[in-house]
Amino acid sequence: MSNISKQQVLDAFHFRSACRYYNPNKKISREDMDYILELGRLSPSSVGSEPWKFIVLQNPQIREKIKPFCWGIKHPMDEMSHLVVILAKKNARYDSEFFRISLEKRGLTPEQLVTTIERYKSFQTNDIKVLENERTLFDWCAKQSYIALANMMTGAALIGIDSCPIEGFNYANVERILAEEGIFDSNEYGISCMVTFGYRAKEIKQKYRKPAEEVISWIE
Ligand SMILES: Cc1cc2nc3c(=O)[nH]c(=O)nc-3n(C[C@H](O)[C@H](O)[C@H](O)COP(=O)(O)O)c2cc1C
Repeated sequence: MSNISKQQVLDAFHFRSACRYYNPNKKISREDMDYILELGRLSPSSVGSEPWKFIVLQNPQIREKIKPFCWGIKHPMDEMSHLVVILAKKNARYDSEFFRISLEKRGLTPEQLVTTIERYKSFQTNDIKVLENERTLFDWCAKQSYIALANMMTGAALIGIDSCPIEGFNYANVERILAEEGIFDSNEYGISCMVTFGYRAKEIKQKYRKPAEEVISWIE
């Protein structure tokens, strides 16, 4: 499992920087995009809920439609190679069809199903308290999808592909446009975030980070 060195991983983390200018003439191969998306799909999620979808938005007309609402994407829409819109599940309640199907797929017996759903009920209600409103429940799923986001960006960096996470857009408008295009059902899913991929057009300046002692504490 470990023919990759710590230094290689650290180098990838230093290489990964928010890429704002992509080389428009260099596109990511389908094979490499499939690899990146597979890293998203394989990501962990709370109670194995996988409450996400990954929309690879390559259609130039639809990209142009959302462009006026995407202030966080400063370059022309055709400059990046790939744009992935990450969706998160809405209404992922313990007693939803969504949970039942995902549990059944794992081969639980009917008795195990009942106990597990009871456990999730208590978890969502008393422990993590995500049932306060629709937003808290959606954000819980969105949190899971950010793990996939991070894994895709790191995995991309490991093979020399640049990326930039994108939250700089008007969610309501982009969601409306994509739903109108029939890309997803906005009763079932909402946009969690977006991420661009491609190859940097120029050097990105050295990243700034707070010193380790400011953000890491060891309690022994
Ligand atoms: C969730 C998230 C959303 C972000 N949204 C945007 C964005 O809309 N546009 C942009 O140019 N950068 C965006 N960034 C990039 C951050 O500004 C950048 O990651 C941060 O300044 C640290 O720099 P580095 O990624 O180069 O290390 C976002 C980053 C994260 C994690």
